[in-house]
This record gives sequence, structure tokens and C-alpha cells, in this order.
Amino acid sequence: MKKLALFSAFGFALILFLQAMPKNDSPLQPEISDEAAQIPENVMAVVQQKCYGCHNAESKNEKGKEKLDWDELNAAKKSKALATMKKITEVLEGDEMPPEKFLERKPEGKLTDEEKATLLAWSSGKKK
Ligand code: HEC
Repeated sequence: MKKLALFSAFGFALILFLQAMPKNDSPLQPEISDEAAQIPENVMAVVQQKCYGCHNAESKNEKGKEKLDWDELNAAKKSKALATMKKITEVLEGDEMPPEKFLERKPEGKLTDEEKATLLAWSSGKKK
């Protein structure tokens, strides 16, 4: 009898554990196609204003363009795009972009809460 109780306790714990595991269709995965990231228009509108200047292939900001090129991301296949989007999520959550030094000269370059939420909703898949 004792064995049975132990066994069912174990079974119960296993079920709880499995339910806590992230599922493949988790809503926290950004939804993008396999072929290309195809950044949505509302996201691109923010990016154009606040990020693109430093992060495109022709940018004069050598470090910025080396780290991120939005056009390249837009065309990137899913696995690569997801890795880049994860980095974007990280810098947004840490309020690291646009860079502090740049904002000292150009405070209007800072993301508004609404813009940040728009970018984060896309990059992380989290709802606003
Ligand atoms: C004034 C220029 C400038 C602007 C504007 C700017 N960035 Fe950056 N970004 C940089 C530079 C420079 C780096 C490289 C920083 C480093 O290596 O220390 C960078 C790095 C990054 C990285 C790569 C981080 C890593 O560790 O690989 C991401 C992601 C990023 N920026 C996202 C953004 C987003 C999102 C925006 C708009 C909200 C933005 N950036 C706006 C200059 C800029």
C-alpha cells in the first residue's frame, strides 16, 4: 500500500512538471514565417525613427551596423531571426538602446513607453 502511495505521488509530480514545461506553441514565441522575419509595419515605423539610422548597411555607425542590420533581419530565416530578436528583447528590457551617450545629445531619440511596448511585443512574443 505504501508503495502505491509513493508511486502515485511520483506520478502526480511528473504531471505537474510536464505541465510546467514550455510548449512548442507557447504564446511567448514570436510569430514569424520560416522564410523571412518580415518585420510588421507598426514595428518598422518605430525602428525607422529610433533605431534604423545606426543599424543599416550604409550607416556611418560602424559598431552599430556590424551588430545589427534591420534589412538583413527583415529577410533572415526563422532561426537566425529569432536569435537576433532575442538580443533585441534583451537590449530593450535593459533600456540599453538607443545608447545613453547618443541620448545625451539627442534626448528625443529615446523610445516612448508605447514604442518600447510595440517593439517588445514583436521581438519577444509577449503581449503588451
Ligand atoms: C546612435 C546609434 C544607435 C541607435 C539610434 C541604436 N543603436 Fe543599437 N547599437 C548601437 C551600437 C554602437 C551598438 C554596439 C554596442 C556595443 O557593441 O557596445 C548597438 C548594438 C545593438 C544591438 C546588439 C547588442 C548585442 O549585444 O549584440 C541591438 C540588438 C541593438 N543595438 C538594438 C537597437 C534598437 C532596438 C534600437 C532602437 C530602439 C537601437 N539599437 C538604436 C548604436 C545604436
